[in-house]
Amino acid sequence: MTSLSTSPPGVRQSGFRFRCIACGNLSDEASQNFRCANCGDLLEITYPHWKETRPSAHGLKSTWRQRRLSQSAIDLSGVWRFRDLLPALESDEQAITLREGNTPLYELPQCARITGVPRLFAKHQGTNPTGSFKDAGMTVAATFARRAKFRWVACASTGNTSASMAAYAARGGMRSLVLVPEGKISWSKLSQALDYGAVTCQLRTDFDGCLRLLQELVLRAPVYQLNSINPFRLEGQKTLALELLEQLDWQPPDHIIVPGGNLGNSSAIGKALLEMRDLGLISRLPKLSVIQAEGANALVRTLREAAGKRLISVQAETRATAIRIGNPASWKKAAHVLEATEGACEQVTEVEIAQAKAEIGAEGIGCEPASAVTLAGLKKLLKQGFVKPQESVVLVLTGNLLKDPDYTIDFHRGDLFKGTSDEGASAPLNQLRRPPIVLDATLDAVMRTLEQAESPEPR
Ligand code: F0G
Repeated sequence: MTSLSTSPPGVRQSGFRFRCIACGNLSDEASQNFRCANCGDLLEITYPHWKETRPSAHGLKSTWRQRRLSQSAIDLSGVWRFRDLLPALESDEQAITLREGNTPLYELPQCARITGVPRLFAKHQGTNPTGSFKDAGMTVAATFARRAKFRWVACASTGNTSASMAAYAARGGMRSLVLVPEGKISWSKLSQALDYGAVTCQLRTDFDGCLRLLQELVLRAPVYQLNSINPFRLEGQKTLALELLEQLDWQPPDHIIVPGGNLGNSSAIGKALLEMRDLGLISRLPKLSVIQAEGANALVRTLREAAGKRLISVQAETRATAIRIGNPASWKKAAHVLEATEGACEQVTEVEIAQAKAEIGAEGIGCEPASAVTLAGLKKLLKQGFVKPQESVVLVLTGNLLKDPDYTIDFHRGDLFKGTSDEGASAPLNQLRRPPIVLDATLDAVMRTLEQAESPEPR
């Protein structure tokens, strides 16, 4: 551990600058907590050279298309393929990559019927190497951690960030420290961090407590923080939007709907949309909307009760543990991109989340509960008239179904809401349940089950 007491390496970069989102202060270096030296607010990455040598939209699109034919590691990454809009590396070999990105855009015909929105798509980030959208940001941030010669990287997490960070640290030959709330993350995510070799601390607090502690730690030890406060993470996560627009032949959808937790992803997608518009890659902005769980609705309350001027924190509680966050770090960035794209912010109940998750599962693709808030939110936005049935909608599914099997099994067994205040309200979801059936191992028993499953009787 002696290396932890040496002074931290600087975070000097080139080709881009850090800009404070509040006071606009520009700098070439970021301190280890990635906060503005003047006012303490968050930093974002800007590319001043784009002003003089604005990359041509046509040239960029054709370069990105050509790279799809390449077999080099950096081009096989669905993130680094778009590296012209990312912080520059000195060499392609510097990138720590697991072939992240390259995620599918699925049509959702059944959910389209349920909602009445015929042009409904899911951008499924759950097919990333560690099963969530975090990999797109982690490949960039971990690469810059190694370039700055850090031995240790660290994060606070509701599970997915830690799984992703541990994998990229392992691939990059760095050690990783994970701080997670004890008992409040899924076993699948915890098991990933363990297998990838992280030092994993289950702290007796919530996510917000873990993040607070990490912020103190990085000021005391030469540990590189890989939460989405780190602006390199958001640069990588921008590529979700680039890849999506490429898949749509650069025709923007009317709406993009994303779950909101710590609010890094919505900020990253929004930044990408604004940059794409400024560079002429798209001619109009989709509306970017953020959906939160009712029990973790800090942004909803901040926009409604404080007009987006100050954060209203909440004591977060939801079974969608990935977004069980009450004090979102990137709330200002998210509020900005919602305003700039004229998007909405909504909240959905636990029952609405469970229903939406089952409906996405029934499409044969599935997702984790936090991702399902997008479909539940779409239903609300349609009811309010914010989304019109003839408009095109992309839901960002952030995590793989296998990330939280306990939730899915509890749902199908009918245990998810048992003994909770939602028990009554969840009764209509029974028709979506497909519990496992325990049988004697006889042909008769299986045949009878098959017949019953075919019968039109309600289950
Ligand atoms: N969906 C999933 C599956 C997540 O894991 C997260 C965040 C979000 C949505 C929300 O994204 O924070 O950028 O608004 N998970 C973090 C973690 C906080 O530690 O894994 P956000």
